[in-house]
Amino acid sequence: MEKMITCSSLPMTAPTATPLAYSPGLEGVVAGETSISTVEDGLRYRGYPVGELAERATFDEVAYLLLYGELPTVGELAEFQARVAMARRLPEPVRQLFHALPKWSSPLDALRTAVSALAHFDQDMADNSTEANLRKSERLLAQMPVAIADHYRISKGLQPVMARQELSHAANFLYMLRGTEPPAEEVRALDISLTLYAEHEFNASTFTARVIVSTMSDLHSAVTGALGALKGPLHGGANEKVMDVVRSAGGPSTAEAWTLDALARKERIMGFGHRVYKTGDVRAGILKPIARKLAEAGGSELVQWEDTADIIETVMAGKKGMYPNLDWPAGRLYHAMNLETPVYTPMFAMSRIAGWSAHVIEQLASNRLIRPRGLYIGPAGRSVKPIAERG
Ligand code: CMC
Repeated sequence: MEKMITCSSLPMTAPTATPLAYSPGLEGVVAGETSISTVEDGLRYRGYPVGELAERATFDEVAYLLLYGELPTVGELAEFQARVAMARRLPEPVRQLFHALPKWSSPLDALRTAVSALAHFDQDMADNSTEANLRKSERLLAQMPVAIADHYRISKGLQPVMARQELSHAANFLYMLRGTEPPAEEVRALDISLTLYAEHEFNASTFTARVIVSTMSDLHSAVTGALGALKGPLHGGANEKVMDVVRSAGGPSTAEAWTLDALARKERIMGFGHRVYKTGDVRAGILKPIARKLAEAGGSELVQWEDTADIIETVMAGKKGMYPNLDWPAGRLYHAMNLETPVYTPMFAMSRIAGWSAHVIEQLASNRLIRPRGLYIGPAGRSVKPIAERG
């Protein structure tokens, strides 16, 4: 006979022994241990200051560092680059998917769909060992720029361009997107921006990836979720808003008044502020002169946007005590490279895949389900009236 469940037969939840700590937005909460990066005393990846990495290493070396824990030797880098280059292609059904998407699908949404679809074609899909996750990470590192470039070209009615195996991550991406040899100074500028974007501790998208994989789910699911978190304008989506801000300010002669008015209207100026860095983001300082240099090479219209941005920065610092984050110069740098705005956040993702993957592997190495509590603010306990008695 079926057992009737009555209120008195339901188990009671044990009261919490200690009061629950609550921090809105989890501000200041330490949610886990990591040996991948720290934002204490300036950003460091595996102990190395990000500024030294940007100056003395390439993004490909940094991706290796994040995945394997040490900077590569010449031989290790060559083998790593060869493996990644070999994986620079999409299964045909994934590429066909881009033809099936509505023409208004954003590049970020298309990339998220592609990563989810790629899971079905990865031979290591069901294997969560570190070795398999490293293989899958290298493949996603290779495939994500291909997906961005292929979707971009297909959405414009252009033929996708085959990857070039001898090119770096940055150079191959520009080549596949445009179908022409990229200038060396653009490759170096993009490469530095990718190094700066590669990893950032427990930010929203990385934390999303760690939460997903903490259920013993898989790398592709974690990266799909991370892409969803990255998309929002408070996180990676901010780099697509930067040129809107700069253009809205009008130019150097109107930038100060425009910024003061925007602040008076309590608008958020995208590209400024940070949850952790309250006195400035070291990455923004590194990329700023690089954005200006490319703008100067590109002509006076680009230079006037740099001048406008400088004035907005001065007002934000003076009136609001708020400083630019990495998205502020990155949005302008990508604009100076004549790249279209909707690919900027996907470009952030084709770098951050290195950090996301490293965190997924680290989480699984000493996993415990991530399951916080909510502070209940709903109605007091009450009892259910049968529907006929509810009036
Ligand atoms: N412009 C103007 N006011 C701001 C800004 C901004 N960019 N950022 C925060 N504030 C104000 C906000 O309106 C609030 O004011 P009030 O107390 O009067 O209501 C106060 O500062 C605190 O805001 P908050 O959202 O609680 O602060 P937070 O530390 O949680 O926010 C942030 C961090 C990044 C979400 C926020 O600074 C922001 O929205 N910035 C703009 C978006 C952006 O650039 N995001 C990129 C973040 S870093 C790189 C990345 O992840 O891509």
